Amino acid sequence: MMESRKTFAIISHPDAGKTTLTEKLLYFGGAIHTAGMVKSKKSARQATSDWMEIEKQRGISVTSSVMQFSYNGYHINILDTPGHQDFSEDTYRTLTAADCAVMLIDAAKGVETQTIKLFEVCRMRGIPIFTFINKMDRDARDPLSLLEELEEVLGIRSCPMNWPIGSGIDFHGIYDREKQHVELFKRSEPNSRRILPVFTNDNGDQEVKSTIGDALYGKLEEDVELLDIAGDPFDKEKVDRGQLTPVFFGSALTNFGVQSFLEYFLDLAPAPAPRESDKGVITPDNNKFSGFIFKIQANMNPAHRDRIAFLRICSGTFTRGMTVQHVRTGKKIKLSQPQQFLAQERNIVEDAYPGDIIGLFDPGTFRIGDTLVEGNTAYTFAGVPHFSPEIFARVRAKDAMKYKQFHKGVEQLTEEGAVQLFTTAGPGADNMIIGVVGQLQLEVFDHRLRAEYGVEVEIHTLGYSLARWVKGDVKLEELNLIQYGGSLLARDREGRPVVLLENDYAERWAKEKNPDVEFVSTSYE
Ligand code: G4P
Repeated sequence: MMESRKTFAIISHPDAGKTTLTEKLLYFGGAIHTAGMVKSKKSARQATSDWMEIEKQRGISVTSSVMQFSYNGYHINILDTPGHQDFSEDTYRTLTAADCAVMLIDAAKGVETQTIKLFEVCRMRGIPIFTFINKMDRDARDPLSLLEELEEVLGIRSCPMNWPIGSGIDFHGIYDREKQHVELFKRSEPNSRRILPVFTNDNGDQEVKSTIGDALYGKLEEDVELLDIAGDPFDKEKVDRGQLTPVFFGSALTNFGVQSFLEYFLDLAPAPAPRESDKGVITPDNNKFSGFIFKIQANMNPAHRDRIAFLRICSGTFTRGMTVQHVRTGKKIKLSQPQQFLAQERNIVEDAYPGDIIGLFDPGTFRIGDTLVEGNTAYTFAGVPHFSPEIFARVRAKDAMKYKQFHKGVEQLTEEGAVQLFTTAGPGADNMIIGVVGQLQLEVFDHRLRAEYGVEVEIHTLGYSLARWVKGDVKLEELNLIQYGGSLLARDREGRPVVLLENDYAERWAKEKNPDVEFVSTSYE
């Protein structure tokens, strides 16, 4: 059961084609038959400050939080990483629940900002990364320069598994380096798969030659030779450690190269990985159920103000109605109505296995990073870290009399992981700073304080754009930091020292002036 599970997330910059690729993958798995289902996300994309819109957007992105399908005997879980306007800390946290990632790149644009951020999180975890270079049916950049960019910008070596023949109007297909055949691209017949051997001089080869023309054929021959001599050889161990990314070219929209990508991917992607806990590594074949909460989603269903906690199963078997131990509180909990999510429907789960994600109704019991285990042996999985916010704001209750509710609200929303809370030295209410990764998170915070705690808040956005946790034996007040509003000393909720910085320049300054101190972008220990 477990070997056949593949749990991954797609990381990309908006518009690279994540929705399109997801849709095609689901299509192969037979999970959806109409193309419209995943796409419905699009209509929710024009986010506004209107709460109904937020609700709608979140509702929709939640129902597609995890998509499950099977293919060739594999059970595949795709974790959706919220992008666009709902890019938030959840996007990063989701990656902590994935065993590997598919990095999707627009062939005309190369590596873009959001991809870099998400890649960093994957790298931190050392998970395998598979690259799909999309939109080859449009004018694309030179494939070699794209590979160079992976190395220069992301610092990862690459090994092309296939190689494109032309691009845009001249796109003719891909050459499979292992199987030494060409899959011909026919714009007019997107779902046909015409696969022919090359460099053999037989009839199929001749057909390829006459289809793509002598010039492209000659170029392909040269490219393939160059890759064989000068490229990084495929090395499974390096792939497993996230040091080498297998690269595939294709066109998700025309469904070209997706199936062969899927087949290689399933073959190479890791089975559910063992996970560190405070009592040692827990392997998935451990027969006792365990898992951890990586995301909590509130207000999914406007009719019932419920929250759903998303749990990644790490070991054992989950069966509906089982009783587990909530390690942080020591309480026993019966998991009676867990859910799995597929496109628009929520299904009740009867059983689930390592690698699977289940959604648990949460009356306020869970926090991000909580561990659930079966039986009496208690251990805690290494926590889900905080990631550097990008927007910081001072917050206070408009009505000073509502101070108590305000505090309670901020406290609870922080616990849930909806925002991060930092405090600066000094007395009073003015020392609270909240940090969020995306603008929508701020709007949700504002709305929920009003709707759930009855507090109107004043939100004053500050000019900082990154937080760095300070590591090293140093007195905070002795740090040499850029002055005049470029930096601010604070502590996170657990009391760890953090500096808020205006921009990359302020960060470089801090690193240069304090060579003995480490400034890190997550709260990872
Ligand atoms: P996202 O989820 O990563 O944001 O991207 P999405 O799949 O929504 O794709 C963004 C745009 O890129 C869409 O066009 C989509 O059709 C197009 N696209 C995706 N893959 C390919 C590809 O392989 N080739 C080409 N040529 N285009 C691709 P749009 O005009 O924004 O939307 P739509 O009106 O076509 O739906």
